[in-house]
Amino acid sequence: MGWRPVGTTTDRFEESELSNPRIAVVGATGAVGAVFLSIIEERKFPFEEIKLLASSRSAGKRLKVGGQEIEVEETTLEAFRDVDIAFVSATTAVSQALIPAIVEAGAVVIDDSAVYRMDPQVPLVVPEINADDLKEHRGIVAIPNCSTTQMAMALYPLHRANPIKRLVADSYQSVSGAGGAAIAELQEQWRSILDGAPVRAEAFPHQIANNVLPEIGSPRPDGYTSEEWKMVEETRKIMHAPEIAISATCVRVPVSICHSEAVHVEFTEPMSVGEARELLEAFPGVTVVDDLSTHQYPMATLGAGRDEVFVGRIRKDASHVNGLAMWIVSDNLRKGAALNAIQIAEELVKQNLFLSGKPS
Ligand SMILES: NC(=O)c1ccc[n+]([C@@H]2O[C@H](COP(=O)([O-])OP(=O)(O)OC[C@H]3O[C@@H](n4cnc5c(N)ncnc54)[C@H](OP(=O)(O)O)[C@@H]3O)[C@@H](O)[C@H]2O)c1
Repeated sequence: MGWRPVGTTTDRFEESELSNPRIAVVGATGAVGAVFLSIIEERKFPFEEIKLLASSRSAGKRLKVGGQEIEVEETTLEAFRDVDIAFVSATTAVSQALIPAIVEAGAVVIDDSAVYRMDPQVPLVVPEINADDLKEHRGIVAIPNCSTTQMAMALYPLHRANPIKRLVADSYQSVSGAGGAAIAELQEQWRSILDGAPVRAEAFPHQIANNVLPEIGSPRPDGYTSEEWKMVEETRKIMHAPEIAISATCVRVPVSICHSEAVHVEFTEPMSVGEARELLEAFPGVTVVDDLSTHQYPMATLGAGRDEVFVGRIRKDASHVNGLAMWIVSDNLRKGAALNAIQIAEELVKQNLFLSGKPS
């Protein structure tokens, strides 16, 4: 991949440990990009300079970051000169075309697309689980698919205590997982239905308002979809557990933000509901909401706009002595995308992973 520390970046961090990174956000005008800019502000992520990049369609737009108005620029290679961290959250084609050149220019790239996730030389990171993998980066770090991140967050603390042998996951994924245009289309479809007007469907193969679609991603020869296979492969990679047997069904539902998941897990040994609750409650970034008698469980309306991964409906799986069933909900634009990317950047800064000594 040819990662090498480039003089300006390396020297600058070596000269002054206190200087903050210069960052670029590719896809700043998108659904993830908008959330990214607000989280940067909320977490007071330290940066010396920020460049907002998008397609030529958005050049000249002005977006607010940290109280400042910044003009969006068209994404060109020139824009990455003197950038230390580039967040790429645009399209598959943009990631494929640009990332090697951005790395050559000296920036560490945090990529939101699926392009590099399964590359053995690219760490796929959820910081609460595998922040140490960042040490192996060669200029690119990938963030997982949104449905994978929240499942891994809920399963990893349990897996550490009692290795998982097999799991079956069914997702109920919001339309924002398909980008800003899909959110607008859902709203437009609801309006058309209420007005008795014809429903226009472009973001998905069918109308999504008043509907549930058992198809996310592209079809595979084995009958699964690409999204379902991401949940299989990415979960194993993040948890360093290639042996776990995983089957997933990914379903699009007419919800704007938050993915929900029903997950049935088989452990090596039996695990009680109480032990699972304790392990989950002790894990950073996870919140247990679980009291069916008072109707307390994770829901999209609870998780939207929140950073945590919520887990509830924890119960013994009636079909297996070593099994547990649970319900997992998280904001796909936050922990599923922008927040996870910013946490990775925070780790890069904390672990000083811009300095020389990276493999070439
Ligand atoms: N949505 C999620 O829950 C989620 C979760 C995990 C990962 N991701 C990944 O994150 C990425 C962005 O998703 P999104 O939901 O934010 O999509 P989106 O709302 O459709 O936004 C796409 C962004 O990409 C920009 N873009 C498009 N073509 C470009 C080009 N040729 N050059 C530069 N910028 C270009 C767009 O700029 P314009 O506004 O100028 O068109 C926009 O800022 C995708 O790779 C997606 O797979 C999304």
